[in-house]
Amino acid sequence: MAHKQWFWQTKNTGDVTISKEGIPVHIAIIMDGNGRWAKKRALPRIAGHNEGMKTVREITRSASQLGVKVLTLYAFSTENWKRPKLEVDFLMKLPEEFLSTFLPELIEENVRVEMIGDIEQLPKHTQRAVQNAMEQTADNDGLILNFALNYGSRTELVQAIRAVVKDVKDGALSEQEITDATISRYLMTSHLPEPDLLIRTSGEHRLSNFMLWQLAYTEFFFTDVLWPDFSEKHLIEAIASYQKRSRRFGGLS
Ligand code: IPE
Ligand code: IPE
Ligand code: MG
Repeated sequence: MAHKQWFWQTKNTGDVTISKEGIPVHIAIIMDGNGRWAKKRALPRIAGHNEGMKTVREITRSASQLGVKVLTLYAFSTENWKRPKLEVDFLMKLPEEFLSTFLPELIEENVRVEMIGDIEQLPKHTQRAVQNAMEQTADNDGLILNFALNYGSRTELVQAIRAVVKDVKDGALSEQEITDATISRYLMTSHLPEPDLLIRTSGEHRLSNFMLWQLAYTEFFFTDVLWPDFSEKHLIEAIASYQKRSRRFGGLS
């Protein structure tokens, strides 16, 4: 059924076919390799982050056009505060930079901006930019562009456990009611489906404290491509790979 397929001509891999029916609902991306991209060009690391921002725009647009419902982008981890102040300061300016340029386009494309992570610890100017984007796009019902900003999965789980304990103590929750589904409801992603596809760029094969609970049955796609070089073509390749997988969830196919 030709009308249910998209054909993509790619330079290096030839034709890639993906089906419109099998588009992952939620794609999560660990955007990695900005620093190495810059180093290869003898540029400062921040030049890589700046370039990576352009990739965010392109991939958001592609995901939206492909009909992806949720795109979660790991932008800053709870461990990234360990980096030099200059780099952290630059990374904290990026959301403003990105949103001041692309917010009109996101609104136009019916994208809803959201975030997971501890917003309170971010500099006020970063909080304002993110808050403003979330408010301005709150009524949009297209792609959810979910930034993981100052996000760490262990911190998220600790917060969830504390909240569960409090509710049990207060009598709002019984011990028997603590199930898989209950835990999911206490996470920052409570309103979102779990990721179907996780992509990590730059050749690193680890989670770096990203969505430890939510990725239990997610399909993983690792690529050596550095985030600033990642393009729609690579996204399509990842989706094509995803569509070839058999997801059994512990059962039989
Ligand atoms: C990813 O690129 C962006 C962030 C983690 C904020 P990196 O800055 O980690 O780039 P590499 O891994 O050093 O190349
Ligand atoms: C993971 O990348 C965090 C983000 C992409 C925001 P890192 O570059 O921080 O991860 P490690 O240190 O290589 O594990
Ligand atoms: Mg890195």
